[in-house]
Amino acid sequence: MPDDFERMWSDLAPIGRSSSSGGYFRQPFTQPERELSDWFREQAAARDLEVETDDTGNLVAWWRSGSGPGVLTGSHLDSVLDGGAYDGPLGVVAALAAVDELRSRGVVPERPIGVSVFVEEEGSRFGLACLGSRLATGSTTWEQARVLRDRDGVAFEEVVEGAGTGLLSGVGTFVELHVEQGRDLVDRGAAIGVASGIWPHGRYRFDFEGEANHAGSTRMEDRVDPMLTYAMTALAANKQARLAGSSRATFGRVEVTPNGTNAVPSRVLAWLDARCSSEVELADLVGTIERQATERAGRDGTSVEVTAESVSGAVTFDADLAARIAADHESGDWPLLPTAAGHDAGILSAAGIPTAMLFVRNPTGVSHSPAETASMPDCLAGVHALAETLERLAT
Ligand code: GLV
Ligand code: MN
Ligand code: MN
Repeated sequence: MPDDFERMWSDLAPIGRSSSSGGYFRQPFTQPERELSDWFREQAAARDLEVETDDTGNLVAWWRSGSGPGVLTGSHLDSVLDGGAYDGPLGVVAALAAVDELRSRGVVPERPIGVSVFVEEEGSRFGLACLGSRLATGSTTWEQARVLRDRDGVAFEEVVEGAGTGLLSGVGTFVELHVEQGRDLVDRGAAIGVASGIWPHGRYRFDFEGEANHAGSTRMEDRVDPMLTYAMTALAANKQARLAGSSRATFGRVEVTPNGTNAVPSRVLAWLDARCSSEVELADLVGTIERQATERAGRDGTSVEVTAESVSGAVTFDADLAARIAADHESGDWPLLPTAAGHDAGILSAAGIPTAMLFVRNPTGVSHSPAETASMPDCLAGVHALAETLERLAT
């Protein structure tokens, strides 16, 4: 008898959890993430699902029922640094529980149903978001990925065998269930929603260079301080995103060299995360921030170089598929909503696989934080919603 949702959820709860913050550190290809993959393989075996993997470590556990192109569901098990429990794992655990629900109702799918786990979705280790699904779809090549390095200088090619090949060849449709990363569903009083699309977004590394010097003996007018250029750029990013309306701009990661209290720094590396409702707005926003950074660098005597590390275009999910999934439920139609968060679903959709997403209400709207949450009744409503969706698509 496979574990039910609540049991699976409580089994995962301690894995990669920080005892100080209560948040999760489930970085790709580390011990917690391996433990999660092993757990997934055990759950698949308990359900007689046939596990396939690729050289990148992406996993699909197939319920080999019927024939033809399969319906894939699932998400990711890695987290951001000090992340929440739900972003990723909710979609994987709900997928396994939805298979159980269909079986307990005696549903015999006419198409295979697969449960997937994509690696490095958050890009928290190698910097490129959705790296596993990008490699599995071929939208990023092995040549591009192999040289990516983590914060300790370890290359991607040192931790994985190669690119994924063929893992998605039998997939006709993908549905990812995810905790909502905002408050739309709370405001609408709905437990379940369907995604209409994903905002374009990107990560840009700003490399500010100056001159290290003594914090006491260097007169203020003699400094070449890249921290000042960075500080103005962070304020400019916030201001420009506000001026643009609903756009988002965040500097959430900084590396300072030499990072000493009594020295003017020689270098500041800072990463901008920017998101807008259209690709034109995104290009404008990032262009304006870069221009203002360059102007300020001119005044500070510093320099700035900008490198786009991870850019994801706008995604519009298959409208007919979304409408088919959202319509005719006991509780009425599930609302359609866009999201500014990135997902493997966006990568599969861009690769031409008809794709949809279900969202489960998040009472605070907080995500990428230990405070991320969803109620157990809403999670179970998510399992049921996913089971109904899979039944619609596979029978
Ligand atoms: C992933 O969750 C992202 O939106 O960065
Ligand atoms: Mn996610
Ligand atoms: Mn995330």
